[in-house]
Amino acid sequence: MIYSKVIGVGSFVPEKVLNNDELCNIVDTSDEWITSRTGIKERRIAEDGLVTSDIAAEAAKKALKLSGLNPLDIELILVGTITPDMIFPSTACIVQEKLGLKNAAAFDISAGCSGFIYSLSVADSFIKSGKYKNVLVIGADLLSRITDYTDRSTCVLFGDGGGAIVLTANTENTRGILSTHMHSEGGHDDILMLKGGGSLMPASIESVNNREHYIKMKGSELFRYAVNYLKAVAEEAIKFNNLKPEDIDLFVPHQANIRIIEATAKKLNFPMEKVFVNVEKYGNTSSGSIPIALDEAYMSGRLKEGGIVLIDAIGAGLTWASSVIRW
Ligand code: UT7
Repeated sequence: MIYSKVIGVGSFVPEKVLNNDELCNIVDTSDEWITSRTGIKERRIAEDGLVTSDIAAEAAKKALKLSGLNPLDIELILVGTITPDMIFPSTACIVQEKLGLKNAAAFDISAGCSGFIYSLSVADSFIKSGKYKNVLVIGADLLSRITDYTDRSTCVLFGDGGGAIVLTANTENTRGILSTHMHSEGGHDDILMLKGGGSLMPASIESVNNREHYIKMKGSELFRYAVNYLKAVAEEAIKFNNLKPEDIDLFVPHQANIRIIEATAKKLNFPMEKVFVNVEKYGNTSSGSIPIALDEAYMSGRLKEGGIVLIDAIGAGLTWASSVIRW
């Protein structure tokens, strides 16, 4: 049996902080509303000139350093993102060039906020099939570039950042990815989408004037899907691995809203001490959310070798996914 073992983890967020009080100068909102409805206190915003591939490359550099691998050992680079530097070439190819990973194939995966777990799942399949031994998996998003700062119902939620892990084939023990589960349900464009700039609506003066190049979201509808689907996909993972909820050492859910995290944890019978939360610092960073959390959990000693971690996420599509990893 081949397992995809995590041998490196890293993350990067821009320096500039935008806190709730500062947002009150931009839209009609309050720290009280944002904190009580979302748990978010501040988020990071990339300075001009910083692009998604920079965030991805910085996170990947740290993960690669920790892995001890040579850049030329990496055979595949996957980047989960909905904010690529440009429509093409892929951000993964740009990261490849920035880091000199000359022996790797590289491509992006678009799965909304599930982008990192989808990428992890693809990486795991390539490693399990024997095709590749060393894979770099990145989740990075620069949501401030597609956020409408005149729309108070969305602009308080999003931030910028990314994280990365390095996976290697392991046949000696059971450390590594124990399972991945992915789901999709099209037909929910009205709940979460960015319409402009694709083949449906190429950029035009009209599309710009109608603010079609920004995220549009129906938050409360998405909220209901989020709690139900995140619970279901976590239970699927627990059952698949013949585990009980108490066997999970750390639950690392997508960081979109503390109320979604708490409601999901409650439905799964996870005490909050076993749930990793950093949404107050970064808001929702889409594909960056899970790998940033994994890096912080690891660096703060909450992810120990051999510990069992459950991750899950939901995003545009809809897409939702989970994975269980023996760290
Ligand atoms: O990453 C993908 C996953 N994303 C998510 O899962 C996001 C899911 N949704 C959410 O997190 C929540 O639905 C939100 C945080 C987006 C909104 O919370 P809510 O409790 O569902 O509020 P709501 O949308 O039902 O709005 C309640 C009220 C409305 O006022 P009225 O109509 O009741 O008078 C809004 O106009 O809150 C108002 N409101 C605000 N007020 C102050 C909406 N945004 C703001 C704001 N500041 N920023």
